[in-house]
Amino acid sequence: MDKLAITGNGPLRGAVRISGAKNAALPILCAPLLTREPVTIVNVPQLNDTRTIVRLLNQMGVTAARTETHRVEIDASTLTTPVAGYDLVKTMRASVLVLGPLLARWGEAKVSLPGGCAIGQRPVDQHLKGFEAMGATIAIEAGYIHAKAPSGGRLRGAHVVFDVVTVGGTENVLMAATLAEGTTVIENAAREPEIVDLALCLNAMGARIRGHGTATITVEGVPELHGGTHRVMPDRIEAGTFACAVAATGGEITLLDAPVHAMEAIFDKLREAGATITTQGNQTTVSRKGRLTAVNTKTAPYPAFPTDMQAQMMALNVVAEGTAVMTETVFENRMMHVSELLRLGADISLSGNTAVVKGVRRLTGAHVMATDLRASACLVIAGLCARGETVIDRIYHLDRGYEHIEDKLIGLGAQIRRLS
Ligand code: UD1
Repeated sequence: MDKLAITGNGPLRGAVRISGAKNAALPILCAPLLTREPVTIVNVPQLNDTRTIVRLLNQMGVTAARTETHRVEIDASTLTTPVAGYDLVKTMRASVLVLGPLLARWGEAKVSLPGGCAIGQRPVDQHLKGFEAMGATIAIEAGYIHAKAPSGGRLRGAHVVFDVVTVGGTENVLMAATLAEGTTVIENAAREPEIVDLALCLNAMGARIRGHGTATITVEGVPELHGGTHRVMPDRIEAGTFACAVAATGGEITLLDAPVHAMEAIFDKLREAGATITTQGNQTTVSRKGRLTAVNTKTAPYPAFPTDMQAQMMALNVVAEGTAVMTETVFENRMMHVSELLRLGADISLSGNTAVVKGVRRLTGAHVMATDLRASACLVIAGLCARGETVIDRIYHLDRGYEHIEDKLIGLGAQIRRLS
């Protein structure tokens, strides 16, 4: 298993290009299942998670391949088996996003239940509630969700009110609704920019969606969708991670192609912490020269501060002046990085999902273990700030969500080695 060895060596400087967004690419790579025509997706980040979706499509008989570094071409006319097996689903929960498109186009689908996850229980009850409202029958059999469209094979437009704001649930039901008979209204929908990107892709394929980016999305079902090309939006969490890193280490970096319009909550917190952020065209410069101040954060669905940035922000708070109260409200168990940060010398007390972080003058390098994707990014930032060497184990989590993170950080002056 690969490890990263990081030696803290002061401020970051230089420019870094932001990759396509993982969380937009994953649902968008499932969208071509809705049509028999070829779809081309560009700006797809090269990550283990995007490779997994392509493998999943291949297993179903779909012709899908990466034809260039960041281009994936998908032709779902060859689909033979609308089944997503446990082997791949267990490695990536987002695989459940094939369920909505399969059910809508094929009238039937079997997808393995994802099972447990390190950061929380993460049920899919809201996805299923949406499909049932559209007339589907759902059975859980031998660890699989077996979903069937009503007789005639076509889902019906419905009024779906989610009990909780769910990104994946909104995406799954949104995709299913594009081919349903009649109009679907999704209320209490998630408003994440990645959902807007998915809706733009679907509309380019002939769907009739409006209200994306608000809590009420309306979808007028159409009999079929057609092929097309879509460019995946840049990754706001990757951009936020680099911005947090330079705020923590000091220095100045330029983010090329960061989706600034989607990053207000992140930038607000970084400015409060003492960073200076300016944007000109596609270049956003983030610098921190003076004092770094600890900032309180509370995660919540978009447009609030994202749960996917909580861990990275904590890495910044552990070396800031003052005390920050950090509350996680989206997932039940997303504070596992706390005990690893303690190994580096951080001063944090944790009570349930609230961490009280007292800034310390210095961290010292140690062996730590990555427990999930964003926790890994937090440990990388902490390692960049620590005296001596930090070795991060289990970085396969990092490879799921960050494209060439160590090369990008080396380009900014960091001292990092991958130990295979
Ligand atoms: C997506 C993101 C993930 C991010 C999360 C929240 C992708 C691939 N992943 O995950 O990076 O951290 O949004 O912004 O885009 N819930 C239910 N029932 C459901 C569905 C969800 O109770 O049917 C709960 C979850 O347990 C969680 C909360 O709702 O507590 C939010 O989950 P959700 O928004 O669905 O997250 P994901 O789509 O899994």
